[in-house]
Amino acid sequence: MTVTANGSTPGTPENPWGDTKTDTAKRGGNLGPTGRPRPVFPEPVLRDTHGPARVVAMVNQKGGVGKTTTTINLGAALAELGLKVLLVDFDPQGALSIGLGINPLQLDLTVYNLLMDRDVSGEDVLLETGVDNLDLLPCNIDLSAAEVQLVTEVAREQVLGRVLKPLLPHYDVCLIDCQPSLGLLTINALTCAHGVMVPLECEFFALRGVALLMDTIIKVQERLNDELVIEGLLATMYDARTLHGREVLARVVEAFGDKVYHTVINRTVRFPDATVAGEPITSFDPTSLGASAYRELAREVLSRWPVPATIGR
Ligand SMILES: Nc1ncnc2c1ncn2[C@@H]1O[C@H](COP(=O)(O)OP(=O)(O)OP(=O)(O)O)[C@@H](O)[C@H]1O
Ligand SMILES: [Mg+2]
Repeated sequence: MTVTANGSTPGTPENPWGDTKTDTAKRGGNLGPTGRPRPVFPEPVLRDTHGPARVVAMVNQKGGVGKTTTTINLGAALAELGLKVLLVDFDPQGALSIGLGINPLQLDLTVYNLLMDRDVSGEDVLLETGVDNLDLLPCNIDLSAAEVQLVTEVAREQVLGRVLKPLLPHYDVCLIDCQPSLGLLTINALTCAHGVMVPLECEFFALRGVALLMDTIIKVQERLNDELVIEGLLATMYDARTLHGREVLARVVEAFGDKVYHTVINRTVRFPDATVAGEPITSFDPTSLGASAYRELAREVLSRWPVPATIGR
């Protein structure tokens, strides 16, 4: 039987990375999967009011790295803590909407209408999800037309920020799920965001294209949004059993240091299963490792915010 570092069973929420005593000793103490000491993140401080929301864009122009999965599950984990969370589906594929059990093809009003029609307000498009404190601005394939139509708009990079503004006082956090591109829609998200979160899949090409992404972020900071910060880089689909996975993660930490979240999301089939069920993993399989990883990420994200976590109840 495996002996664990703290007497817990490997692969449980108490020991999500399945560390053995030997692993821990080899790493020189209580080191996490990123090779740094694993901090304990404080319980967030509750307060009585909500808002204004901190806006975070989930961006990586590489496809299939966990942007949508992170938007849904981080959003649900923050909502579970008591924050009021607004999710924005900003990818014409509508995967975020689908992942929350909504059929994008049956929607009358979407983010597309919100962007293009001055008579449509955020409240007209807003949907409640099956999760308390978690609302959604859904979209569908119509949004792909906006990318072209916005080109001729005045202040075309600021359209999303303008339409979201009236909603933000009612929420504590707004997560924008971007499409895998650095086109005008993603630039709109970066222009209205306080922070950008970059999920990276722990595989060989993880860092390919990240230089271009960082370059784009710098250009947006210089020209459109000087308050934009990099919230953090999140390693996803990590498999601690493979040397390859461990090497890629070490390389990411070498390149980005403390910008890399201590929390790492393991590869598990429960995420695709939860998407098929149309709900976050925190409700689909609340005691799973995936659910506890996103709960941990929620606490880590809050611990990085410049002001103490401002959470309503
Ligand atoms: N930690 C994980 N373990 C296993 N599968 C995962 C994990 N995270 C995401 N997936 C699966 O990988 C696929 C891609 O994930 P996701 O849709 O979140 O990526 P994305 O970056 O939003 O993709 P796109 O760029 O196409 O929008 C999905 O099928 C999802 O269920
Ligand atoms: Mg996606």
